Amino acid sequence: MERKTAVFRKEHFNAAHRLFVPEWTDAQNQAQFGKCSNPHFHGHNYELVVKVVGVPDPLTGYVINLSTLSSIIQHKVLSRFDHKNLNLDTEEFASLNPTAENIVYVIYQILRKELDMSLELSVRLYETERNFVEYPASGA
Ligand code: NI
Repeated sequence: MERKTAVFRKEHFNAAHRLFVPEWTDAQNQAQFGKCSNPHFHGHNYELVVKVVGVPDPLTGYVINLSTLSSIIQHKVLSRFDHKNLNLDTEEFASLNPTAENIVYVIYQILRKELDMSLELSVRLYETERNFVEYPASGA
């Protein structure tokens, strides 16, 4: 039987955003997105948990070298989004509403390209301690 094992790397970044639908009025956006639609932006301390599933290599005992994974996250994700205004400073969210759902999907797509296809990937993103999202959805 395959000895599939999940390994996790936790990272952190700060970013500002404004959630809004351009076609809506400020009042409609405020009603839907609340404080997250403040026209002058606001920040979140995002916690990112990257999960990689695979069979440990017989020689190294590693599913993936976590320092390699950390380095990929650093160079491909954190350097792109940390201390940025997601709406104004990134091309990914220039016209895509930077909800946690959309951010986690963008991060997944970036990381997926960097990892061997034999490894399963999922990404969890905490926007606050109580609000978090995961892609792909469990069981997908
Ligand atoms: Ni917000």
